[in-house]
Amino acid sequence: MIIRDYVPADVDALIDLFRQAVRRVAIRDYSEAQVKAWAPDMAEREKWVERRASRPTWVAEIDGKVAGFTDLEPDGHVDMMYVHPDFKGRGVANALMARVEEAAAERKLGRLYTEASITAKPFFERKGFRVITPQTVHVRGQDLVNYRMEKFL
Ligand SMILES: CC(C)(COP(=O)(O)OP(=O)(O)OC[C@H]1O[C@@H](n2cnc3c(N)ncnc32)[C@H](O)[C@@H]1OP(=O)(O)O)[C@@H](O)C(=O)NCCC(=O)NCCS
Repeated sequence: MIIRDYVPADVDALIDLFRQAVRRVAIRDYSEAQVKAWAPDMAEREKWVERRASRPTWVAEIDGKVAGFTDLEPDGHVDMMYVHPDFKGRGVANALMARVEEAAAERKLGRLYTEASITAKPFFERKGFRVITPQTVHVRGQDLVNYRMEKFL
């Protein structure tokens, strides 16, 4: 596995990976209507292009395939942490989080925070994050529960 910087040509692979991770993995904790609202059929591609360009994003690659990705905003927000279902349980998220923490140390950040899905909460707990509060977010007509979590570095 390699962890490398995102390049703009990755955007469609990331959109597809996001949809697969939400629809095939997070479906165990959310309804079909909820996962479709979270990862809709038609992604807002321009927003993806803009958001990926606006912050460091890292891609995990296994045998030349995009296996996962994550990001880090300047204030310590980890917005996205997604692993392709075909590669889950193989340490991809571990490797991506190690890269985030390395970047956080370089930037002298004191804290990381995220909004973890029910599905990802055990992973973030394993990485030393603690729940600040559960919350309900309204996405395209659906209410989804997630957890505001943080880790002091
Ligand atoms: C959650 C997710 C990112 C984990 O990715 P992954 O590559 O399968 O995780 P890893 O194999 O790197 O596991 C990392 C550690 O977390 C633990 N972990 C991961 N998922 C877990 C779970 N559901 N329950 C308990 N522990 C879990 C692993 O045991 C491992 O611990 P270890 O290092 O002590 O062995 C991935 O399953 C995913 O994309 N899920 C669906 C989409 C989603 O909800 N994304 C997050 C949105 S906030």
